[in-house]
Amino acid sequence: MVGHITPELRDQLLARTDIVEVVGTRVPLRKAGAEFTACCPFHTEKTPSFFVSPAKQFYHCFGCGAHGNAIDFLIELDRLSFPEAVEELAQRVGMPLPAADGAPRGPDLKPVYQVLEQAAERYRLALREHPEREAAVAYLKQRGLSGDVAQRYGLGFAPQGWSFLLDALGQSPEQRERLLTAGLISERDGRRYDRFRARLMFPIRDRRGRVVGFGGRVLGDGEPKYLNSPETPAFVKGRELYGLYESQQVLRSPPRLLLVEGYMDVIALAQFGIPYAVAALGTAATSEHIKRLLRGAPELVFCFDGDRAGRDAAWKALKTALPLVTGQQPVRFLFLPEGEDPDTLVRKEGKDAFEARLADAKLLSTFLFEHAEAEHDIATPEGRAGLADAVKGLLATMPAGSYREQLTAELARRTGQRVGRRSYARRPVAKPQPGAGPALTPLRLAIALLLDAPVRAAQVAEQPAHWRDLDNPGIRLLAQMVDVACAYPGITTAGLAERWRGTDDERSVHRLADARLIELIPEDGRDAELLGIVHRLNRDAAAQRRAAEIARRWRERSPAGSGGDGR
Ligand code: UTP
Ligand code: MN
Repeated sequence: MVGHITPELRDQLLARTDIVEVVGTRVPLRKAGAEFTACCPFHTEKTPSFFVSPAKQFYHCFGCGAHGNAIDFLIELDRLSFPEAVEELAQRVGMPLPAADGAPRGPDLKPVYQVLEQAAERYRLALREHPEREAAVAYLKQRGLSGDVAQRYGLGFAPQGWSFLLDALGQSPEQRERLLTAGLISERDGRRYDRFRARLMFPIRDRRGRVVGFGGRVLGDGEPKYLNSPETPAFVKGRELYGLYESQQVLRSPPRLLLVEGYMDVIALAQFGIPYAVAALGTAATSEHIKRLLRGAPELVFCFDGDRAGRDAAWKALKTALPLVTGQQPVRFLFLPEGEDPDTLVRKEGKDAFEARLADAKLLSTFLFEHAEAEHDIATPEGRAGLADAVKGLLATMPAGSYREQLTAELARRTGQRVGRRSYARRPVAKPQPGAGPALTPLRLAIALLLDAPVRAAQVAEQPAHWRDLDNPGIRLLAQMVDVACAYPGITTAGLAERWRGTDDERSVHRLADARLIELIPEDGRDAELLGIVHRLNRDAAAQRRAAEIARRWRERSPAGSGGDGR
């Protein structure tokens, strides 16, 4: 885990990185004037409209509008998280990053991982050789698990008794501490004992294949059915997905990932030829889980029981997923017949029938409207209004883009209500390009021109600055951008845009960094265009000031005015 990555650090990182190299390792680039070009890796095309600019350290596609700096490229193409992308770039250029502070930084976790691995080994061995193993083997047989899949998932057996692991691994006080930290033994009234006893053991591995915890199932009936490792420094439940590592071992690029509920579901599906199922560990899917799933495969299917509880869980998952979906990756919801889970179903009907269900699973949009409409009577205006408000609230959590616009349009169709997007435009100078967001006002164009060449900020700074007093959303952003670019002469488009990552204005800045916005303004006319806008903004500011002044005097003169002199 890396620590807080300051803007300065990101500047340095981007300054040391060459985006042409980063992109070049993935996409065959050809030189085209001052830039490099290729067929866009983010959409399908026959003639190249994807460009990488060494000067700007930015890529842009005039076809689909994809654009960004080296960090964005890794996030978008490799589906890395922001810290992961930063880590990857830092490694490339050999730049040290600060370690995560606050978090479990103190103790070295290596020995804890070691003891977890040793425990997994002991449990596996016990399943093969322990005198009491028969009960576990019989249970596996009864559940229909093959030896092959049991081995692939590293299943093991925790025998009865209070000190199987303690005796095997707890030789030294240090080692017993580690067992405790790893959640493998418990302590009560000063006495320590094995957490897992008489259970079938499922080791939980993290993405790098390290054992981080266990799930243990009773052999037959008993409570609790599953006992899981507690959260430990090595095991963060909201992050890990059971079966993801094992899946990646057999499938480099799975066609989709399927999120199911249980350990047994993951394993049964793998045994029957569907090795891309994973399970969240006894919790609802977190947004960290969903990010990971979306990075892992081009499609995501959530699997739920068909009953009321299943629907509620699915709705919760949908709400967690909405801020993360862009429509480029289908997200589906599979509801199983009453009384079945993936384990029972795949055994009954086999791989092909189960995969047919997956292919047929409800798209996120279908489930969204179906569920929302079930709660509102769309035969009445009241119901339609309720539906519109409820869904609008949900759509507002989605990233801006075509997918959200499509769902917005769909809502409008279903409610017969215009659910148009907010109009940002004051004086539009250009129609929005496809996917380019709201209309382009002169102010927005100015920001786009600054992003295109941050060096233009110097010319702006030489002009009168009355525009800064303008009461207009966006002025603040323009002013900040001029200030940053002046404070860091030589900053690239990449570096400038990077400054707004994680801020409220990130989306606006990102949209305005779309090269298509200024495509029609010739290169050698862009400086003048920007200065022209600044002049106009200054004139507007003067007019605004005059208007305010007139209004003030008028108030003073009027008898109703508070501070009037009674003339
Ligand atoms: P289920 O009760 O659906 O179990 O719980 P299952 O996976 O079908 O198990 P089998 O087929 O009876 O063996 C689903 C998941 O919820 C968590 C486990 O992760 C389980 O796989 N769970 C369930 C627990 O953590 N503790 C429990 O007591 C029960
Ligand atoms: Mn089950």
